[in-house]
Amino acid sequence: MSDFPYTDRFTVNRVLPEHGRPREEVLAELREMARAEDLTWETGKVSGTMYCGDHEHYRFLDEAFGLFAHVNVLQRDICPSATKFEGEIIAMALDLMHADAVTDTEPVGMVTTGGTGSIIHALLSYREHAAAHRGITRPNFIKPETGHPAFDKGCHLFGIEMRTAPIDPQTTEVDVDWVADNIDENTIAIMGSACNYGYGTVDPIPALGELALSRGVGLHVDGCLGGFVLPFAQELGYDVPLFDFRVPGVTSISADNHKYGYALKGASTLLFRDKAYRNAQYFYLPEWSGGKYHSPGIEGSRSGGLIAAAWASMVQLGREGYRSYAKAILETAFTMQGAVRSHPELTIMGSPTFCFAFRSDEFDIYHVADAMKPKGWRFNGQQYPNAIHMAVTRPQTQAGVAEAFAADLADAVEYAKKQTAAGQAPISAAIYGGVPGGMTDEAAQFIEGFMEQMLDTQQSLPPL
Ligand SMILES: Cc1ncc(COP(=O)(O)O)c(C=O)c1O
Repeated sequence: MSDFPYTDRFTVNRVLPEHGRPREEVLAELREMARAEDLTWETGKVSGTMYCGDHEHYRFLDEAFGLFAHVNVLQRDICPSATKFEGEIIAMALDLMHADAVTDTEPVGMVTTGGTGSIIHALLSYREHAAAHRGITRPNFIKPETGHPAFDKGCHLFGIEMRTAPIDPQTTEVDVDWVADNIDENTIAIMGSACNYGYGTVDPIPALGELALSRGVGLHVDGCLGGFVLPFAQELGYDVPLFDFRVPGVTSISADNHKYGYALKGASTLLFRDKAYRNAQYFYLPEWSGGKYHSPGIEGSRSGGLIAAAWASMVQLGREGYRSYAKAILETAFTMQGAVRSHPELTIMGSPTFCFAFRSDEFDIYHVADAMKPKGWRFNGQQYPNAIHMAVTRPQTQAGVAEAFAADLADAVEYAKKQTAAGQAPISAAIYGGVPGGMTDEAAQFIEGFMEQMLDTQQSLPPL
């Protein structure tokens, strides 16, 4: 992480100031920071994270947010609008995921705070449902190795044993036979990604669905990343396998509004084939002295602003808007993948979609990251095997970005060959590099230091 850059320009607040400052002065400070930070990704050279990047859209969302930001949607009697927004977000997402194909149960959903929020609510639902209906007290869950760490986090939080399935190293898709062999009487659910973060590939959801049905377990499809792109990719005729409720056996799907749903950060949708799963995780405390407490999910108070903005994004863009953005993103992603494939030294992992990863058998791929970083590129580094990850978002669809990628990549490949011939190790390796054999003390210390830099920087600043 970079050094904290603002200490020389702005007051460091270690205590709540006795006297407040003029609003305009505070806003001027915020504007300066925001402008500087926006400049880093507006170039289109930053992988993922800024899914929309359109300041006009952000202004529209900000206005929708501002109208309801102060509202607590837990108190529905004073904000019936939240019931409209949440209900319609869920209905529109169910429609997108072809819940009309479900005839024997009632499909429902909930809006959560993000991908991790949706995933952990799904895990809690499966755990509670399995406890109530199958008497399971020692639950386990199976994810492919490529499944997002939010599943491991949820299992850790809720006392669920995680079983990690290997993937095929060529296709990067989950080994379905391994999953079949490792389902037992305590398995509450399995999962597949559409698509996974690391390689942008889609697991064989129809095969997982068949397995889930035949063994009586749930199947969660993680569409956090792909949920608002892949349905439109299918409509546009791209070769994307079925992954939604049309697949028998799919019992829940997550799709992040705050990624390719182009909403503000803090919104995701979790959908269930059967109301019984969602309702299994409701929380009630009717005997509490403060009143009969209940909440539909893990959070208590939630902001009406985020729900209003997520709803506003969906109804303003419509299918047409999402489809046109998906088209531009996919075309850019395939152009960039073409640039990678033009180098015989580079290998793309599996058959990716709008996000992809590439590695090399000829040199350490982090040499490529080293050469592209000074040109403004920011990729995520992967491990086992080392690879460079690129999630294509709307900022990359600007004119000239894919061409710049191709040109800078060509230079980077030459640089990597020279560095390798000279016996040089890549600089990025210290940050991106894998930790052989798992978590060492050194790696744990590095990660702890990284987290502390996020949270405690203000504590370690020099005295005022
Ligand atoms: C496939 C996938 N699932 C889940 C998540 C977790 O989402 P969040 O960071 O919003 O919690 C991500 C995040 O990138 C993701 O790519």
